[in-house]
Amino acid sequence: MKNIDINKLIATLTIEEKVGQLVQLTADHFIGEAEITGPYAKYNLSDEQKYYAGSIIGAPDATNAYEIQKTYLEKSNHKIPLLFMADVIHGSHSIFPVPLGAASSFNPKLINDIAKYSSIEAANTGVQVTFSPMADLARDARWGRNMESNGEDPYLNKVLTSEYVKGYQGNQLDSNSTLVSCVKHFAGYGMVESGREYNYSDLSERVLNEMHYPSYKAAIDSGAGMVMSAFNTIDCIPATVNRKLLTDDLRGKLGFDGIVISDWGAVTETINHKLADSFEGCAKLAVDAGIDIDMMSFAYILELVELVKKGEIEESRIDELVYNVIKIKKDYGLFENPYKNLDPKKDKEIGLKTVLDKTKEVADESIVLLKNDGMLPLKDEKYCIYGRKVDSKDYMGPWSWQGKTEYISSIKDVFAKDENCQIIDYNGANFEQQIFDHSKKIVLFMGENSWESGEAKSKTNIKLKIEEIDIIKRLKMAGKEITLVVFAGRPLDLSDVDMLCDSIIYAWFPGSRAAEALYDIITGVVNPSGKLAMSLPKSVGQCPIYYNNYPTGRPYEKAEEAYVTKYIDESHYPLYSFGHGLSYSDVVIKEVQMSETKGLNDNLELTVVVENESNIAGKEVLQVYLNDLVASVVRPRKELKAFTKFEIGAGETKIINITVDSKEFGYINQNIEHTIDKGKFEVMVGFNSEDIETKIVEIV
Ligand code: BGC
Repeated sequence: MKNIDINKLIATLTIEEKVGQLVQLTADHFIGEAEITGPYAKYNLSDEQKYYAGSIIGAPDATNAYEIQKTYLEKSNHKIPLLFMADVIHGSHSIFPVPLGAASSFNPKLINDIAKYSSIEAANTGVQVTFSPMADLARDARWGRNMESNGEDPYLNKVLTSEYVKGYQGNQLDSNSTLVSCVKHFAGYGMVESGREYNYSDLSERVLNEMHYPSYKAAIDSGAGMVMSAFNTIDCIPATVNRKLLTDDLRGKLGFDGIVISDWGAVTETINHKLADSFEGCAKLAVDAGIDIDMMSFAYILELVELVKKGEIEESRIDELVYNVIKIKKDYGLFENPYKNLDPKKDKEIGLKTVLDKTKEVADESIVLLKNDGMLPLKDEKYCIYGRKVDSKDYMGPWSWQGKTEYISSIKDVFAKDENCQIIDYNGANFEQQIFDHSKKIVLFMGENSWESGEAKSKTNIKLKIEEIDIIKRLKMAGKEITLVVFAGRPLDLSDVDMLCDSIIYAWFPGSRAAEALYDIITGVVNPSGKLAMSLPKSVGQCPIYYNNYPTGRPYEKAEEAYVTKYIDESHYPLYSFGHGLSYSDVVIKEVQMSETKGLNDNLELTVVVENESNIAGKEVLQVYLNDLVASVVRPRKELKAFTKFEIGAGETKIINITVDSKEFGYINQNIEHTIDKGKFEVMVGFNSEDIETKIVEIV
C-alpha cells in the first residue's frame, strides 16, 4: 500500500467521510457501551457520526485500542484506519524526569533516549502518536507548564526538541515501535502574559521568528509528523484560527507539510475570544487558518458537512486538509498494519527493566546540585531524613497519567537500607524532638506536589510551603546541618531558605527511579551533573527573569545608582541562573584557544583545556555564549550558542574541542531576515552562564 494514491482515495470518499478524517474523539465514545458523560454528552453524536471520526485520543490500553480499530474497520466503507493519539510526555508506564528536569541534563543523547524508550513502552499500550515534545520557550516561573518545556533558552530548546522528535520517530517512521511526534503548541504559549494559563501572548514578529520558531523549525527539519496549535492568541488572533501563523508561517516559512491539530476544544473556544458566535463560525475560521484535525471541540463534526453543502467552504479545501491526515497514516504504515502498537498481547510488556534503568540514568543527570557548603556527599556518617516526600510516591510529576506507582520505591524504602540513616516519621508524634535528638545532619525532602504544576497550574506564590520554611528555620536555629532536596515542576523562589541550608539539591520531578537517584547523589555514588535549564528567581516579583535578557540604555552596575534599570526592593539577579549546577568534582578551565578573526560563513572552533583539580571523577557541561557588540537591533546580553557534556577523570587534564556554527552568530533583523553582522563578538566560555571567561572574535 506504500504506493497508495491519496488523491484517488480522497476522490472515493463522501463528504461525511472526508469530514470524519478531520475529527478526533475520545476513546470513551467507542469503548463498550460506555455512556458519554461530561461536557460533550450534550452533543449526542449518532453512531454513524462517531464512526466517521478519523482519530482517537486517550485509549486506555492496547486491548481497547485494538477493539476500537477492529469494529471501526468492520463498520467503515473506506477502511482508512483510525490513528490513536495520547500524551506520552515523559514516559508511558515507566516515568522519566519531567522535561524541564531532563533538559537540565544538558545531554541531547539522553533526550533522544527518553523519546526512544518511551516509544518502546508506549508501543505496547495502544498509542501511535504522542503529543510531545512541547517546544514552547518558557521564561516565567508562574506558568505551570514550565515543567513540560526545555526551559528559557532558544538554543538548548531547539537542540533538545529535535532529539525528542528523532527519538520518537526513529530513522523510519513506519518501522516497529515508533510514535509520530506532535510538536506543540504553535506558537508563543510559553509567553502567556503574567504566566497566567491560556492568557494572551504579545510577541513582536521579530521576536517570534528569532526566539520561538527555531525549536519548531528544528522539529520540522527532524521530520515531526504533526504540530499542535496553541491556546493563546498571537497578535490578538487565537493561534487556532490564525492563518498567518498556521499557514503562512508554519507551512510557508518553516516548510511543514504534516498535520496541524487544534488543542483540546480550542476551535470553539474562539467563541469566548469573541471571534465567532457560533460553531459554524468557528469551523469556518479554523478551516481557513489550516487546522486539519479538530481535537474535541465538535465544530467540525457538527458543522463542516453542512458548510460544504451550502457552498460556504469549498470541498477542495476540505480535500487539502484530508490529504494531510491520510498522508501521515500512510507514512506511518497504517494501511499495511492498522494494528501497529495495538497488540493486546503486549499489554503486559510494560515496566520493562531496560526502560526503568534508563529513567534512573536520566534522573541521575537531571538533578541539579545548587549549593554545597561541603555537607554532601554523605559518607560513613550518621544523618536523618525528614519531609513530606519521604514516605510518598509523588515523584513522577504532572503528565504521567499512565505512570505506575508500583514501579516506584519511596525515599523511605531506599534510605532504610542505609544503616547511617534514621528516618523521621513525618506524621509521627514528637517528630521535632526526634530530629533534634538524632544527628547533626538532616536531609529534608520538600517542595511541590505533582498536581501543583502542569496545565492550568499558574501560581503567584512560588515559595516552599509556609510550614516547610518554618521547619528549616527551626532546624537551623537548633544548629543542624541541612541538605534540602526540592521537588518542583517550575523554578521555585528559595530565597527564604537558601542561606539556611548547607546544601540544596533541585530534583524537579525525577520519575520512577527518583528515590534511587537521590540516594546515589546524596551518598556520592553518583556525582551530580545537572545544570538549570531555567533560572530560579529571588522573588515572584522578578518574573519573568531569564539570563538572556536585553541590555537597557541605563544598565545596572551598582545598586547605589538611582536612575538605572533595577528594583528598589529586590536584587537585579536571579538566585541561581541558567546553566548553573555543581558537582563533587572541581573542574576548572585552564585555557581557551580560538582565532581572533573569522569569515562570515566560518564556524568558530574553540579548544578549551580543562582540569579536574579534585580526586573525584565527574561530568561537566562546557557552555559557549555569544554577544554581538554592534548590531542593527538590540541583542540579548549573552546567548548560549554551543555546549557539550563531557566526562573527566579524577585529576585529569583534558582538551575539549567545541564548535560554534557560523549561523549562530546571526539573528533576525527588522525585515524578518536572518542576518550576520561583521564586527566584534564577545565569546564567553564557562560551566554556567555567569562565571565565564570572555574573549573577542571579529567577523571580517
Ligand atoms: C493540552 C495539550 C494536550 C491535549 C491533549 C490539552 O489540554 O494543552 O498539550 O496535548 O490537552 O491531552
